[in-house]
Amino acid sequence: MSGSGHRVWAEVDLSALRRNMARVLSCLRPGAAVLAVVKADAYGHGAVPVARALAGEPGLWGFGVGDSQEALELRAAGITAPILILGTIIPEEEAQVVSHDVRVCVHSMERIATLEDESRRQGRRTRVHVMVDTGMGRLGALPGRAAELARAVAASRWLELEGIASHMSAGRPGHPFTGVQRDRLLGVLADLQSDHIEPPLVHFANTAAILGGEGCNQPLVRPGISLYGVLGPDLAHIANALGLEPVMSLRTQVVYMKDVPAGTPIGYNGTHVTSRQTRVATLPIGYNDGLAYRLSNRGRALVRGACAPIIGSISMDYTMLDVGDIPGVRVGDTVTFIGRDGELAIGIPELASIVGTIPYEIACSVGKRVHRLYVREGQPPPGAAAAEPEPLAVPPAEAVPAGHCAAAPRPSRRASPARVVHDAGAVEAPGVSAGNARRVRAPRAVGVRRKAARGGAGRTDRSAGADRAAGADRAGGADRADRAGGADAA
Ligand SMILES: Cc1ncc(COP(=O)(O)O)c(C=O)c1O
Repeated sequence: MSGSGHRVWAEVDLSALRRNMARVLSCLRPGAAVLAVVKADAYGHGAVPVARALAGEPGLWGFGVGDSQEALELRAAGITAPILILGTIIPEEEAQVVSHDVRVCVHSMERIATLEDESRRQGRRTRVHVMVDTGMGRLGALPGRAAELARAVAASRWLELEGIASHMSAGRPGHPFTGVQRDRLLGVLADLQSDHIEPPLVHFANTAAILGGEGCNQPLVRPGISLYGVLGPDLAHIANALGLEPVMSLRTQVVYMKDVPAGTPIGYNGTHVTSRQTRVATLPIGYNDGLAYRLSNRGRALVRGACAPIIGSISMDYTMLDVGDIPGVRVGDTVTFIGRDGELAIGIPELASIVGTIPYEIACSVGKRVHRLYVREGQPPPGAAAAEPEPLAVPPAEAVPAGHCAAAPRPSRRASPARVVHDAGAVEAPGVSAGNARRVRAPRAVGVRRKAARGGAGRTDRSAGADRAAGADRAGGADRADRAGGADAA
């Protein structure tokens, strides 16, 4: 029986989160700090509990969010660490960020001017980071204009130039374009140095740049997805070598069971018709909870330590499993869509590969109505809803073949089983000496076991339409995917 008291719940293992943070730190130079990216509700894990769990951890400098609402949510929860809005703010957000001591990235002279006005009006200085577009093509001033922005901030009485930043576009480690972007950022820094402007913080490294080595010698890095232990195929071997663990599991419980004869259509449009007499388990989880529609007739779930196929179309609130081959399944049994059940596990990256998306999207899609159950070393924190009597921490899934449930060894909990170190060029930010650079050996590749995804039977027009739409999206991204080696980021 599930005993969680919830229809659908996501277990978020805060101990695994902290271990991931320590493992990310272990690939950095001594004394380096982390700006933990908790935007998009900490990639679906819950920004406030995640920030509370990381606040005060060794090496934590502050938190990166997407907008002022996310920043204020953290402040309201009592987070006093630095918070930086990584994107851009709109004029309506200025008053709140200034009054709540939220740092902002700036991208234009216009924003600098309005932010300065607001800071003057409130009589409070605002710390800003100038964002340089070194090749992302999204936000940020082009390198030729960035120094001008930094000088304007440095000259302002009401603004403080706390940092210079950029964002890397490549999603796979060691991509040559990351080095190009890093060098463009260095050019801006050199330009400023000639004016004796040396912002205390310089940062550009996301997970791919950290694990790829370009971020290893940086004083401040901005990991997101690595903290949550959800790495796509391009980063999986390094993540495994480092011992990064998935933090979130997604579970539900069987709410209805029935025996059906051969020839029974299941779900909308009867996209699955039973080929034998079997047992169908109905689960109160649907695409509104983050179970991607494209898993219809393709995905699997774990129940009683065994693997059961999703049959029929996933609907908004319900999903069906064929549990005819699993003895003893009954109403109330726990069903796992992400995470471990006994010796089997399903990981977010595998779901992403079946669905044709990136792990980020799967993690961020876990719906609002899904109850988050926070656990530490197997125990819910004080005040959390009562949960399973057995330890709840879900040992990390390692590698699960796409579309299948697979036996997954339980990785060791030892910190940093393999230090990942790199030879890649390090950015010499002001104040960072080359002597601090850590010499490294190549990451040990840990095999990821994969099988081909099994195609679903009886696909409908509706699901074929969804496929086409997804294919069109992917085609639209071909240029970027080429540069990023097919990987992606948020
Ligand atoms: C500006 C910025 N920095 C850092 C990150 C973290 O990236 P990742 O999750 O790949 O580590 C993101 C994520 O989208 C971002 O937008």
